[in-house]
Amino acid sequence: MKINEIDIKIIPDSKGKDTLEAEMESGGIRITASVPAGESTGRNETKVIVPKAALEKASWVKTQMKNQDFITLEQFDGFLNTLDGTPDKSNLGANFILSLSLAFTKLLAKQSNLEVWQLIAKISGSKPGLPLCFFNVIEGGVHTTDSLPFQEYWFIPKTNSPKEALDKCLSLLKFLGEKIQAKYGEVKMGSEGGFTVPSKDAEDGLKILQEVIKERGLDTNLGLDVAASTLFENGSYRMGEKIMSNNDLLSYYQLLTTNYQLFAIEDPFAEEDWDGFAKITKSLGSATWIVGDDLTTTNPKTIKMAAEKEAVNAVIIKTTQIGTVSETIQAANLAKSFGWKIIVANRGEETMDDFIADLAVGLGAAGLKSGCPLQKERLVKYERLLEIESRIKN
Ligand code: PGA
Ligand code: ZN
Repeated sequence: MKINEIDIKIIPDSKGKDTLEAEMESGGIRITASVPAGESTGRNETKVIVPKAALEKASWVKTQMKNQDFITLEQFDGFLNTLDGTPDKSNLGANFILSLSLAFTKLLAKQSNLEVWQLIAKISGSKPGLPLCFFNVIEGGVHTTDSLPFQEYWFIPKTNSPKEALDKCLSLLKFLGEKIQAKYGEVKMGSEGGFTVPSKDAEDGLKILQEVIKERGLDTNLGLDVAASTLFENGSYRMGEKIMSNNDLLSYYQLLTTNYQLFAIEDPFAEEDWDGFAKITKSLGSATWIVGDDLTTTNPKTIKMAAEKEAVNAVIIKTTQIGTVSETIQAANLAKSFGWKIIVANRGEETMDDFIADLAVGLGAAGLKSGCPLQKERLVKYERLLEIESRIKN
């Protein structure tokens, strides 16, 4: 496939910050792709550049691409990595590289007469399937101001029909908003469109969620993204006013898991706290998904290390962490080879691009985590799942 045209633009993301959109044309087909950005990033993520710098580098990249004929996605991504020439993509920037990789994937799907998820299933050798939806309905941590210490509280309806899941979530949100208003006198939103709760007690988020679920008789699981690296200070964890050791925190998770039947806990410890991860996976991992995100950063090296240390049994997959679609697929396949669950996820700052829904279906991921459907940048991903669901079923 010859790329005739690439146009790089700066667009606003869900927080109004600059991000990149790539428009690519080949064989008369024109496609756009845009990249999200993280707010609580893992240390081992590839490096992004300021969007303006990408505009300056774009014409050089276009010249290098002239006369190239790309057959596979791997070949295209490999070409970009060679142009970049660094191990962390800091030269061209993981965000710039990813905008091109995403656009190429979409173009390749169109030219092959496949849906994007079908192409991903083919490249990755996966059996495609609809994921569980991990709705981020209550937010805390660095995605908010004056809210709970944990970053995300998930409502995970027990259904593999995204349509049913979304209906349940929207009905929950109505009553959850009313309950928060009645209890705290205000309803504010976090980065991903979920509600905030003005309390320093992490358990309050689970309590209020459980109250609504019981009152409404909703059949659901609950889960958390603690993003514990953001709570880690001098070897301990700051939880509101309390300072906790990793053993204290482990006991706390054991209690919460019993009281709220937690289905999954993401980043329960800081990314350098391998000991904490290994302990919780040993203690709770037979019944609960212990999920790596900042720990594993969609990177085969850190995923391997996590497997050696038996630190997790599930993993978050984010294209932005590694910076190309083909390396994302490789990381997901490696994680699957250890028998882990895969959850494809959005970022703190999102765009209207719905690629991750196709990625989740194409990889046959166990989950899609795309924030709260009250924000349009999150909703489009769930709506894309609905579209795929209706096509698969008809
Ligand atoms: P981020 O957070 O995209 O802001 O890094 C999301 C997450 O931790 O899952
Ligand atoms: Zn996370």
